[in-house]
Amino acid sequence: MKHIKDTISFIQDSFKSTEFIPLHAPTFGGNEKNYLIETIDSTFVSSVGAYVDQFEAMMTAITNTKKSVAVVNGTAGIQVALRLVGVSTGDEVITQALTFVATANAIAYNGASPVFLDVDLDTMGLSPKAVSKFLEEFGELREEGCFNKKTGNKISACLPMHTFGFPVHLDELKAVCDAWNIPIVEDAAESLGSEYKNQPTGSVGEMGVFSFNGNKIVTCGGGGAIVTNNEILGNKGKYLTTTAKVPHSYEFFHDEIGFNFRMPNLNAALACAQLEQLNGFLENKRALAADYITFFNNSGIQFRTETPNTKANYWLMCVELENQKERDLFLAETNNAKVMTRPIWQLMYRLPMYQHCQRDEQLNAQFLEERIVNIPSSVK
Ligand SMILES: Cc1ncc(COP(=O)(O)O)c(C=O)c1O
Repeated sequence: MKHIKDTISFIQDSFKSTEFIPLHAPTFGGNEKNYLIETIDSTFVSSVGAYVDQFEAMMTAITNTKKSVAVVNGTAGIQVALRLVGVSTGDEVITQALTFVATANAIAYNGASPVFLDVDLDTMGLSPKAVSKFLEEFGELREEGCFNKKTGNKISACLPMHTFGFPVHLDELKAVCDAWNIPIVEDAAESLGSEYKNQPTGSVGEMGVFSFNGNKIVTCGGGGAIVTNNEILGNKGKYLTTTAKVPHSYEFFHDEIGFNFRMPNLNAALACAQLEQLNGFLENKRALAADYITFFNNSGIQFRTETPNTKANYWLMCVELENQKERDLFLAETNNAKVMTRPIWQLMYRLPMYQHCQRDEQLNAQFLEERIVNIPSSVK
């Protein structure tokens, strides 16, 4: 096995630094400052403005969808997307336990409960086989939709997450969900620029949601986008996230309880400047991934790569260590050397608020939980 010290030296050489090397730092080398100054000069810094419209147009183009809604962050976007596909209080939503907490929280904000099913080892995302197995055992298809025979609750959505930008097996998942009449919302927070069989992630399910948080491949400080090919749901999304105001030039009339989840124009300006550079960022990250692939080849440490028929954005790159002991050693030595590395998330059902949720055995998720470590992945 390659010595961890070799890995540290490789990463330091790669990033030309012996100072602290973060997991993912943003890069502002385009029109960011120009657009921000222009926005301040225009005084349209808040929730309405030309950059919000431009951002939404750019997102529909990038994801090849019909409608995009700019929102305040990815979590809020998932919350609203779930509601739009029909999730309401007392329902259940199928998702993976191997994810960032926002995925589960967005379900809970709707008064629904997550059902945690296993991931595939190759994609690290929700396993179509696990979903199928669960539904064969617990699903009951009625006229009003799919119900959980164990709890009696409606299973009103499936929320797969494209872990670190590696697309889940979407065709297989869609086939299972279609058969059980369950709409898919893709948590594509981490996968802007990733593709599944030439289709952008986020565009395959009924709705998809992206995050533009500070650590993402493209950032606007904080922000999110809902995308969809269902224009009715997309328009409803815009309406709900902008306080459900009935359009009128001066009257204020709101006909349901909407949200103030608007992305400020100031953030949209930053997002537009960043999106202009997305292709360059993707190329740059793929070049780093290629270097890592060469370096880790036959090293005893497995660098995780995209699966066949997919293109990953390599947002956060990661390695798989042989076991938890090796992982802990790797984490300690790299972080001691100021090379930031981080274990994958703890599985959601270990968190106090999600301990009670229904789940399957999680053999793959537990395997990955013990072994996967993120390594520095910034655009250089
Ligand atoms: C998988 C996943 N889902 C949802 C989110 C939420 O996005 P945000 O931080 O923009 O609310 C994130 C990132 O932060 C994420 O990694």
